Parts: sequence; C-alpha cells; structure tokens
Amino acid sequence: MRIGLPTHSERFGSNLFYSVQKVYELDAGPELDPEFSSPFHVVRQIPHAALHQIEQDMAIVIPVKNEKLRLLEGVLSGIPNACLPIVISNSQREPTDRFQMESLLLNNFCHSAKKKYLLFHQRDPVLASLFADNYQEILDETGLIRNGKAEGMIAATALAHALGKKYIGFIDSDNYFPGSVLEYVRLYATGFAQAQTDHTMVRIQWQSKPKIVDNELYFARLGRVTRITNQYLNQLLSLHSGFETDLLLTGNAGEHAMSMDLALKLSFASGFAVETNHFISLLEYFGGVLPSPFPDVMKQGVEVFQMQSRNPHFHDFSKGDDHLNEMIEASLAVIYHSQLCPKVLKKQIQEELKRLKILRAGQEPQAPRQYKPLLNLDVNKWRKTLDWSRYGNYQGL
Ligand code: GDD
Repeated sequence: MRIGLPTHSERFGSNLFYSVQKVYELDAGPELDPEFSSPFHVVRQIPHAALHQIEQDMAIVIPVKNEKLRLLEGVLSGIPNACLPIVISNSQREPTDRFQMESLLLNNFCHSAKKKYLLFHQRDPVLASLFADNYQEILDETGLIRNGKAEGMIAATALAHALGKKYIGFIDSDNYFPGSVLEYVRLYATGFAQAQTDHTMVRIQWQSKPKIVDNELYFARLGRVTRITNQYLNQLLSLHSGFETDLLLTGNAGEHAMSMDLALKLSFASGFAVETNHFISLLEYFGGVLPSPFPDVMKQGVEVFQMQSRNPHFHDFSKGDDHLNEMIEASLAVIYHSQLCPKVLKKQIQEELKRLKILRAGQEPQAPRQYKPLLNLDVNKWRKTLDWSRYGNYQGL
C-alpha cells in the first residue's frame, strides 16, 4: 500500500484524530523503497509483509441478517486468507431456515478455498450462556442475545478476544464488490502498521457511494446518515476546543477496525448507534474532560486513522427511508445523551430531527441502550469450555 500521510490532525485530550489519508497505490510491491522513509516524502509505503503480519492477527466480523447468499459469498472472497472471518448471523430460522443456508454456503465455500471461518447464530443459547456471568445486559428476557447489529458485533468481538486476536475489523455482509472488501481490510492493516500506540482505531471513508440519478450513474461522496453524523460530531469537537473543525469524516462508518486493546475498553451502544458511540466513548473516556477509567491509556494516547478507499461502496440500498431515519436518530441520540454534549448542541440536534420529521417539537431522541466495555469478561474459560468445532473449521486454538 502507498498511502498519503495525514495532512493535519486534531487532539481531544489523549485522542489524536488524523485527517483522511488517500491511497496512492493499492499494492506497493514487496520491497521497501528507502526513498519513502525520507521525512520530506508525503507518501508512506507499507510493504506486503507488514500488512500480512497484521492480517494474521486480525479477525473480521461479518454481521448478517437475511442478506443475499451471493453477497455473503462475495464478501468472504474479498477477505484475505490470513484473516479469520467470524460471521455473526441473526438471520431467520423459520419458515425458511436462512441460517442453515448460510451455514452450508460457508462450509462448502471455505472447504473449497481452504479458508478458515467461524459462524455463530446470534440467538444461539450456548453463545448467550457465555455472557450470563458478568455481561447480562446483552441478554433479553428470554435469556438470548438481544437482536441488533451492535449486539452481534459485541458477541463477535468477545469471541475474537477469546481466540487471542490482536485486531478486530467489521465488514457489512451486503457489499456487492469483493474488491472493496479486500481494500477495506488492507486499509485496516495499513492503519495499524502506522500506529505509534497500542490503542488504535481505523475508519473507512468511502471514496463514493454510487446511485442512479436520472438514469445516470452518480458517484455521491457521502450518504445522508454519514453527512449528518459527521456534522454534529465535528460540532461537538468544535464547541469543546473553541476552534471550528471539519476533520471527522467517518462518524458512523460501519467499516472500521480497532486494536483489541482499544476494542475491549470502549463502551458499545445498541443497534445502529454503535459506530457513532465508539467516537463518543473515545471522547468520554480519553478526552480529559471526564475522569478516565483507564489512566494508563490516557498517558499513552489513542490514535484514530481515517482512510479513504479507492473502490466505491456499493451495498444493498433498498432498505428505505424509515431505515435511514432510524439510523440518523440512533446516531444523533448518542451525541445528544453524552455528558459532553453542550446545551446549544442538544438544541441543534432536536431541531435537525424535527426538520427531518423524525421527532416532534420538544421531543428528545430516545437514548440507545449502553453496554459496558468487554474488558472484564473471563474469556479464558470460554477458550477451554466452548466446543469450537461446532462453529466452523478454525484450528488455531
Ligand atoms: N448479526 C446481525 N444482527 N447483523 C445484522 C443485524 C442484526 O440484528 N441487523 C443488520 N445486520 C447486518 C446486515 O445484514 C448488514 O450486513 C449489516 O448488519 C449492516 O446493516 P444494514 O441494515 O445493511 O445497514 P446499512 O447498510 O443501512 O448501514 C450501514 O452503514 C452505516 C454507515 O452509513 C451500517 O454498517 C451502519 O451501522 C452504518 O452506520
């Protein structure tokens, strides 16, 4: 990978947010070109070997809920062989058992490709039992893991931790371009390869999101949810620092990755609030405004890389306006309910949600359910007691 250096950055306490980095070449070749080490060079080279090494330590979580099997297969084909895909499915079991279909697909595909994988159903009672001791908040009244994308992500993150993975990345399963999946994973590894600290996050900004306008292909830069989320996150940073910024361009990026050290120390929010909540959790825990539960991390610092992909992001966009509105409300609700949100910003968020006809005048967005960091789960016990062979072909235990 040949990647442009970030041109500027913003600090918020111990968090260092870098401006978006641009890809110059997706493949930098195997040899390290010493010219790129010059402090005057604006492009950095990350050779194959460095990316491969990181990928070996990385689990890629693929949340699935009733997606087309062809898309899921395409996503799998884009994940580098060195990574461990963990598919967490909340697909229907009845009347048609879509989970069973996913299971057959993964088994056949990964057998042919000699690709390792794990597949869990989010509502599997055995999976739920792992959380019964000290993470009951993720269980619903039936004792199973709650529905929702975030809840699937939390479970899969804990499983990757149990397997000793050092990095965790997320890729949605409704992606039409396997080439973009490969690029996202390579960008995650590129971010981690540049990190100076153990607590690192990498977020993808799609180069474009194509749609059809007037029978022509139109390469939009930002989706509606993304644009609105970024605006209010930047506003939050600006109000605290006193200097206006527009540096954050990846506020609710579903495609993002974290070092496990960081993933275990952030709080999660339910459903589609999860990504924006990661930002808010960074600001609350490491921003220096509120007391930090992790003083060691405060000293060392946290880095957030934003990487712009070359591939367009083409996913299933037939989910409708209600779905987008649900995501906007969830995303802004996390900002609104943060202890860091000033009154003036709360008012602006309420007005925005009213303008979009998501809320009525004076109504507050509903606070998403919050989940504590995963740090204190006793995953050593899981490693020994769980019959991993029931969940795929991963031999790395
Ligand atoms: N395991 C699991 N459980 N997966 C789920 C669930 C669930 O309850 N609900 C949805 N998913 C899966 C979907 O199958 C898809 O692969 C992925 O999660 C994202 O869900 P979508 O409903 O397709 O979201 P989106 O494409 O509209 O929005 C995406 O991009 C946003 C940024 O623009 C998501 O990644 C959002 O979280 C993100 O903020």
